[in-house]
Amino acid sequence: MGLDVFDELVIATHNSGKAREIADLLHPFVITFYSASDLGLLEPEETGSSFEENAVLKAKAAAQASGKLSLADDSGLSVTALNGAPGIYSSRWGGEEKDFDFAMQKVHEELGSSQDRSAAFVCVLALAWPDGRVETFDGRVEGYIIWPKRGDFGFGYDPFFVPDGYNITFAEMNPEDKHKISHRAKAFDKMIEIFFAGKGL
Ligand code: IMP
Repeated sequence: MGLDVFDELVIATHNSGKAREIADLLHPFVITFYSASDLGLLEPEETGSSFEENAVLKAKAAAQASGKLSLADDSGLSVTALNGAPGIYSSRWGGEEKDFDFAMQKVHEELGSSQDRSAAFVCVLALAWPDGRVETFDGRVEGYIIWPKRGDFGFGYDPFFVPDGYNITFAEMNPEDKHKISHRAKAFDKMIEIFFAGKGL
């Protein structure tokens, strides 16, 4: 089931921060990385109705357009009392300006006096081959929403999310510690174990 060739990988994102973070995680296993913007690939519309569907459509589009193995991720925050919102719309709740203070305020207001503050960050990775094969890997970290928000590290919804078993938010946590337990780390660990482990350069 392992990869035969891993000398090239397209990271199917136009977000340079995300491309760098993924290249850092996989650099022991891949020789040359390209991002979708390096190759001038069009950004597909995220029309899926789940993290998995969106990750798959991004990875497949990049694999078909580039003829190379391609990796995409889709992630977000799922709040139980909001029926999973903002979910696949997590980025869009930040508006054009990607203002996550505004997005967190919106979550807080929609939660109102709800007793159930539980939430989870979710990440789905999709690895797509040019011949149409796709494999997905998911990661999830459970926790709860606090208000007011706290902390300056991280990004997005980190300042109001406390992972279960901790009493600090993701934004108060040293980034290295967050990366050990995050939804993204769990999804990457699964993929590395199946496709890359033992094949390090
Ligand atoms: P994507 O780039 O379409 O997958 O958007 C994911 C969105 O979910 C980001 O813009 C963030 O708002 C949110 N998100 C995903 N992972 C995290 C995280 O680790 N911390 C905080 N927010 C996150």
